[in-house]
Formats: sequence, structure tokens, C-alpha cells
Amino acid sequence: MTDLTLKVEKIVDETSAIKVFDLVPANGAALPPFTAGAHVDVAVTLPDGSRDKRSYSLVNSPAESGRYQLGVLRDANSTGGSAYMHDGVHAGDELSVSEPKNRFSLDDSAPQSLLIAGGIGITPILCMARVLLLQDREFELHYVARSPEDMAFRAEIEALLGDRACLCFDGGDPTQGLDLEGLLEKRPEGCQLYVCGPVGLIDAVREKSHEWGWPDAALHYELFKVEDAKATKPKDTAIEVTLAKSGTSYTVPAGESILEVLLEAKVDADFDCKMGICGLCATKVLEGEPDHRDHTLSEDEQAEGQMCICISRAKGPRLTLDI
Ligand code: FES
Repeated sequence: MTDLTLKVEKIVDETSAIKVFDLVPANGAALPPFTAGAHVDVAVTLPDGSRDKRSYSLVNSPAESGRYQLGVLRDANSTGGSAYMHDGVHAGDELSVSEPKNRFSLDDSAPQSLLIAGGIGITPILCMARVLLLQDREFELHYVARSPEDMAFRAEIEALLGDRACLCFDGGDPTQGLDLEGLLEKRPEGCQLYVCGPVGLIDAVREKSHEWGWPDAALHYELFKVEDAKATKPKDTAIEVTLAKSGTSYTVPAGESILEVLLEAKVDADFDCKMGICGLCATKVLEGEPDHRDHTLSEDEQAEGQMCICISRAKGPRLTLDI
């Protein structure tokens, strides 16, 4: 897919830490369509001058064909991407943006949908709510932020969704936030559950929905914070990874992921997010015990021996992969 050149038509301060960017085609060409839950990768310049990409969900309605709207949180632990978007991008600038991709799609035939958002995780969830509303489908949105001032799109959500939206404020203490027990203890027939937010919220929803018998296939989630998904930890040590099909072994140093080492060695491996979210790099482990760090594989998939090589490592010194 070729990247698009888009002009920043407008930037609005949605909260003190969240800016909303309206992007339109720089040359008047039509924009590729998107579906609810989609994101685009935006090329950003990091503090050391290098270029990288950051993924941002589309928040506007897919029915709007002339613009992409993104909500970007300035992350206190930013590696430079959100700081660039906040400080380095101005109305009138042009950005290089991928075509929309979707790894968090909405099942818009489901009889009922439960949407849960934490913080900036509202962006794909609000897009989903717009689609469900347009289709006059049954759904509820439960949205938590630290305070009313920190809640992006609050007035719009209240006006658009009325009592289909339940907004709550946790003051930064997740135990004071959403009543997940109450929300998840009963699953209406066919209900699909979507959650986007920080890793703590996603893990809590995964745990509770599992406890209350929601099938894995009914749970859809997306992590929004790159910093929550680091491939390496301070205590990691080097591991040896053998590819069963070629018999070749590689040393994966403590500070690198298995995927990075394989890509450097020109091994053909599927990947997208490199954050343990999309599941595209999932690979079967033939020997050794993985140390799972992804946010996408179900317990069943992990038990079947799948691992996300972009982020997970090994509990022992060696792994053999079915590549
Ligand atoms: S590349 Fe997305 S989970 Fe590994």
C-alpha cells in the first residue's frame, strides 16, 4: 500500500493533553474508505531526527468520506511520537499517512454490543458507536477517564448517545472506575464486547469476561499505549532461537526481540504492530517454554504453543520455532 499525503486541516485541543487532528487529502484526491476500529500509521520525526511511525485510530464516522480524524494523547512517557504530533505538527502541514488498516473490527451484525473505553482508548470505540448508532443497533458505551476535564469528546458523546453512554471518572484510581463485575456478569445472547484503553483495563476486562464465561470470540480489544508494550525487560538475558525448517540458530540479545533478530537476518516473517497486539507474528513453538508478553493470543492459543515473536521471549535459554 502506498502512503497518502494528507494536509492537516484543523487541530483542536480536546483536553489539556489530547489534540484532535482533521486530515484531508493534500491534492484533493479521494480518501480510501475505512471501517470502524481502523487506524492509520503516521510518519513522525523523533527527537534524534530519525523517522518512525505511530498508529492512531480513526475517530470520525466511516460515512464521512472526505477526512480522517485522529485523537492524539500527549504521553508523559512518550518516545517522541506524541510529542512530535503535539509540538511539531501545525494546521496546513502535510503528513505521510498509511491507508487505514483494521485489526479491531466491529461485528456490525451482532444483536448487541458492549463498548468499553478508558482514556484515549475512546477513539476507535467512538467510531464504533457512531456506526452502531447509524445502523440503529443495540449497544452501550462505558467510558472512564480520570476527571471530566480529562475526558475527550465528552460533550459530543453526551449529545450523540444520550443514555446509551455511561461516563465515569476514577481520579486516577482504577478501583474507583468501571464496575466490570456488574457489566460482565451476564452476557446477553450474541453480545460482542469491545474494549480499548490502557493495558490494566484490557487485562481486567479479559480476566472478568473469562471468569463470567464470555467466549474468547466475543471479546475484541486494542491496546493504545505503545509504552505499555515493550518487548524487553531489564532482567532479560540473551536466548537462542532455532528455526526448525532451516536448522539455523540465532542469538537474540537481551535488548532485542526475536522478530527484530529474524528480520535483520532477512528471515521472512509476518508482522504488523510489533507490540503484541495484532497477532500477525504468531508462531508455533516446537521446543522450549515461551514467556508470553502479548495482548492478543487467547489462553487456548498459548496452550497450543503459539507465541508472538515480536514481544514474547523464553523462560529458558532456548526456543525452537516452526519456521
Ligand atoms: S507483530 Fe503484532 S503481535 Fe506481533
